[in-house]
Order: sequence, then C-alpha cells, then structure tokens
Amino acid sequence: MAKLSGKIAWVTGAGSGIGESAALMLAEEGAEIVLTGRRREPLESVAARIAAAGGKAHVQPGDLMVSAQVAAIGDWIKANLGRLDVMVANAGLNIVQRDWSNLTFEGVDTVIHGNLSSAFYSVITALPMMRAQKDGVIIVTASMAGRWISGLSGATYTAAKHGVVAMCHTVNMQECVNGIRCSAVLPGEVATPILDKRPVPITPEERAQMAQADDLGDLIRYIACLPKHVVINEVMMCPTWNRGYVAALRRNG
Ligand SMILES: NC(=O)c1ccc[n+]([C@@H]2O[C@H](COP(=O)([O-])OP(=O)(O)OC[C@H]3O[C@@H](n4cnc5c(N)ncnc54)[C@H](OP(=O)(O)O)[C@@H]3O)[C@@H](O)[C@H]2O)c1
Repeated sequence: MAKLSGKIAWVTGAGSGIGESAALMLAEEGAEIVLTGRRREPLESVAARIAAAGGKAHVQPGDLMVSAQVAAIGDWIKANLGRLDVMVANAGLNIVQRDWSNLTFEGVDTVIHGNLSSAFYSVITALPMMRAQKDGVIIVTASMAGRWISGLSGATYTAAKHGVVAMCHTVNMQECVNGIRCSAVLPGEVATPILDKRPVPITPEERAQMAQADDLGDLIRYIACLPKHVVINEVMMCPTWNRGYVAALRRNG
C-alpha cells in the first residue's frame, strides 16, 4: 500500500542525481510531485517517467537563488494543489575554483546562495502551508561537509552546508509544536553530476564504489514515510569504501 497517497511533495534539484531519484521514489509511494530546477528539460523527462509509471508530476522550473521565483512556485502550489506535505530541499551546487588560492567574490556568492540561501527560501516558502495543516516533513540535503571540515569540498561549500545543518535543527526547535519535522540528510560521496565540478576528475571505477543516487532517494523516501510523531533530525549516508578513510589507512601504514 502506497504510504504517501493524497500527499503533495515538492522536490528541488529534481532533474538529476539525488533529487531525481527522490522524486521518482516519492511518486512510487503515491505522492503527487512538484519538480523544480533551473533547466526545464530534465524536469520534463522526470515528469514523463513518473507519468509513465502511473503517477502525477508538475514541472515548476525556477532558480532557487532568486527568492521571488521560490515564492512564486510556493504560490502556484497553494493555488493549484492546495497543500504541501513533503518538501525535499535538495538543490545544491559547487564550483571548480573552491580553494582560498583561487576563490572569487562571484564564486562565494554562487555557492552560498546556491546551497544556503536557496534552502532558507525553500523552507520559508513551505512552512506556512505546513503550519496551516499542522503537519509536514522537510528533508534538506546537506552534506558530510556540513558536519566535518575537509579540504575536498572547498571553503564556501563547507561553510554553506554547515549553515544548512544548523538551519534544519532550528526548524525542529521552533516548528515542532506545529507538527513539522525537519531532517538534515548528510551524504558522503554520491556518484552524481555534481562531481563533474571536482578539481581532480573522478574515474568511473571510483564512481562505482560511491553511494548511488538511488541509495539517497530511498533514504529520503523512508524519512518522508515516517509516522508524524517521530523525526530523524540528522542522518549521514556514506559509501562503505570511504575514500577519506582509505587514504588515511594508506597514509598510516
Ligand atoms: N553527490 C555528492 O557527492 C553529494 C555529497 C553531499 C551532498 N550533496 C548534495 O546533494 C544535493 C543534490 O546534488 P546531486 O549530488 O544530486 O548533484 P546534481 O545532480 O548536480 O543535482 C543538483 C540539482 O540541483 C539543481 N540546482 C542547482 N542549483 C539550483 C538553483 N539555483 N535553482 C534550482 N535548482 C538548482 C540542478 O539542476 P539545474 O542545474 O537544472 O538547476 C541539479 O538538478 C546537493 O545539495 C548537493 O550539494 C551531494
């Protein structure tokens, strides 16, 4: 029996990677999905796959770095679907020039707005609909870089994702009385298109050993289906072959 029948789920970054997988899996659970990303084409393709499997999806493209565009999608959801049960604030990005030796003002703005402001705009937009229902699940894709500091992800991405994790905990602190739950999902390395921006290219063999988008999609589905009286505040999912650990083992002997 589908656990999300009659529910509306809004997934950002839904055209590729983790968001694509989450959208397909939430649709499998019976939710009607709103798909957001900047490019319309990949969203249309995900919507077609959901429709082909008997589900329902709505393409609502927008740039989440622009608050007015986020608000407009929220208005569309309220006017056309009347409610919002699950918000998957998953969109995020990184840049190639991510170290202090090559960081630019523009790069800082892109990464901070693309990961942190965008998550805030999404949550601010979702909350009034969820408060009115006294019910709602917010799942935010942060990162392992939001809990630990490493050289790999870059200065601004690490700072932004730390902010995202902190944001999620404050949502629970203030909105728990309204039946709203917020989960910070912290992936390690996942084989998705975001890795194409790594300064050191990643081989197909390395990608095969990483977590896959469907591993995270399945986790997001699990969180979205939890009963209303519990929340997973924070969860981390990493590849077993954790390249950071493996490198440390090799260094140490
Ligand atoms: N893959 C990993 O190793 C890893 C690890 C930890 C955390 N994460 C996080 O996981 C999330 C999903 O990333 P992914 O790995 O699935 O990579 P991905 O395939 O590159 O997905 C990111 C998605 O976000 C969308 N997006 C980016 N900026 C946007 C904006 N300003 N407005 C609207 N949509 C935007 C992109 O679509 P458009 O380009 O069409 O806008 C894209 O579909 C991100 O938050 C990322 O930081 C990934």
